[in-house]
Formats: sequence, C-alpha cells, structure tokens
Amino acid sequence: MIYTVTLNPALDKTVQVPNMTVDAVNRITEMRTDPGGKGINVSKVIQKLGGESTVLALLGGSTGHKIADALEEMGLKCRVTFIPGETRTNLKVVDPVRHTNTDINEPGIEVTGEILNGMLCELVAMVKPGDIVAISGSLPKGSPKDTYYRWVSECKKAGAKAFLDVDGALLADGLKAVPYLVKPNNEELSRLVGKPLETIEELTSAAGELLDLGVEKVVVSMGGKGALYITKETVIQAEGLKVPVGSTVGAGDSVVAALAVAEERGLSLEEAVCLSTATGAANVMCSGSQAAEYEVIESLIGKVQYKVI
Ligand SMILES: Nc1ncnc2c1ncn2[C@@H]1O[C@H](COP(=O)(O)OP(=O)(O)OP(=O)(O)O)[C@@H](O)[C@H]1O
Ligand SMILES: [Mg+2]
Repeated sequence: MIYTVTLNPALDKTVQVPNMTVDAVNRITEMRTDPGGKGINVSKVIQKLGGESTVLALLGGSTGHKIADALEEMGLKCRVTFIPGETRTNLKVVDPVRHTNTDINEPGIEVTGEILNGMLCELVAMVKPGDIVAISGSLPKGSPKDTYYRWVSECKKAGAKAFLDVDGALLADGLKAVPYLVKPNNEELSRLVGKPLETIEELTSAAGELLDLGVEKVVVSMGGKGALYITKETVIQAEGLKVPVGSTVGAGDSVVAALAVAEERGLSLEEAVCLSTATGAANVMCSGSQAAEYEVIESLIGKVQYKVI
C-alpha cells in the first residue's frame, strides 16, 4: 500500500476574473474547487496511474468536510483527522484577458504536537513492511520543528519506504532520519546545500552527498529541463518532454506519484524514469491541479529520452 501524508491541505478555489482590477468590483465568470495539498495531489495521480493509495490528512471545519467529501467522491481511500479550526482555502484568481495568476492564501489551521503524534501512531499501526509513505508539503502552524524527522523515523521503523518531498528547514530536518527517496527540485537542493547549483555536475554531486547519508534514491527535478535520477549504482539524466504548458503546478507531485507506483510495482530505474517523466509532462499539459488521464501519460512514455551519465 502507498500512503500519502498531507498535514497542511487546502481547498483550492480557482476563479476566472476577466480584467481583474484592484480597488474595483470584479465579477467571477467561472469557478471550481479542488481538494489540494501536495500529498493529496500525489494520491490523485496515483489513482490515474491505476494504483491505490490512502490519503492521510489533517482537516478542520466546513472546508475540511468539503475536502473529505470531495476525496471520497473521487474514490480515494482516506484516513482523515478532524481538529478544531478551519482548513485554509487558497484562492487562485486567473485573468484570461491580462494573463495573470494571483494567489490569495488563508493562514490555515493550528495544530499541536499531540495531535500530530496521534496521527503518526495511527499511520504506524496501519503500515506494513514494504509499504510506501510519501510525505509532502508544508506543516501547519504549531507543528514541532522535528515533525518530519519523527515521521520518517517511525515509518522506517515500521518497515516502510519513506519518500520525502518537502522544502527548506523541513527537508534538512527530515533528511536526518534518512528517507528512502527524496525529490527536491534544483532550487530546493540548492537551498539545502546553501549555494546555487547550476550544472548537472553540481546537482549530481550535491545529490551524492544525500546518498552518502544513506538515502537510496535522489530525484532532482528541473522543471521543463527534466530530471536527474541518482542512486549509488546509476545516474540517469532525463530530458523534459516538449509539451504545451497548461499549468506547472503539481508537476513535482505527479513525479512523486509515478515514483511511488514504480517502486510498488518493482519497475527498473529506467522504467521509473520514463513513467515519471511522462507523468510530469502530462500533468503540465492540464490546467490547475487537475490530474492527467492515463491515456495521455501512456502516449508520452515511449517519447522520453534519457541517458546514463
Ligand atoms: N514545462 C515542462 N515541460 C515538460 N515537462 C515538465 C515541465 N515542467 C515540469 N515538467 C516535468 O515534471 C517534473 C517535475 O517538475 P518540477 O521540477 O517543476 O517539480 P516541482 O518544482 O517539484 O513542482 P511542484 O512542487 O510544484 O509540484 C520535471 O522533472 C519534468 O519531467
Ligand atoms: Mg515540488
């Protein structure tokens, strides 16, 4: 089983406002809401890939209920924890005339260490050796600094493979517990090592430091330029596919989803490279945080170009 962890989910409310103007009354012409948050995005893409996952999410208030209902309607398995407070709604204002995207994000819910511990205990009780736990995204206010260290450690103790896709201090902290796989993008990896990494050699060498800690797989995504897949044995550079761009939001999450599915199915690293690059590109072709259909992903798999370096 694959578990995805979203401790700071959001309801993504995307509205279209032609000629959006500050200091004036603006009219919405189209509106949609989607359950959002990185782990939830990972689960949506796993489903499109024909895989199964369980969403672990921390939710609150009527917005939290809307998210839980939407996930259920999508047929995703969920283990949600409800706490007092209101899950954030992130408003995305798309102006199709001026071609602007404006995000207005609510601060979100507050949590305590005890609540997070309760969730972690619930997860550890479910996890079986060989399961995958994909931990992604930010933490809600009030979370202890060592939250991801604890989650990675406990998942490992339970015999699971922890995938970590987080940024900044949270990545540095989670890495201390040595996850099985990490997927920083090039900027996140640069921030982690504290210097700009520009060349493939620099990125590969920084990823090598993570392998030295004991991480088994490091995937460094580089947006439209593709990604590096680095293990102790092999370094593979995949070119990005040339596709029409709808929205790049969640491209990395879809890569994590494909890597989790590839791991669960026991695919080779080369197969994982092709599946995840195709999945990333297919999701870039979609608008907003919508997940691409498998037919589109499948049509791109054979087009992926990569080389062992
Ligand atoms: N413009 C693009 N064209 C084609 N493929 C893309 C493009 N952007 C991203 N991808 C694919 O998706 C993968 C992940 O993208 P990216 O490096 O932007 O992830 P990310 O920064 O972690 O994104 P996020 O955190 O928003 O999900 C890339 O390695 C690539 O395969
Ligand atoms: Mg990312």
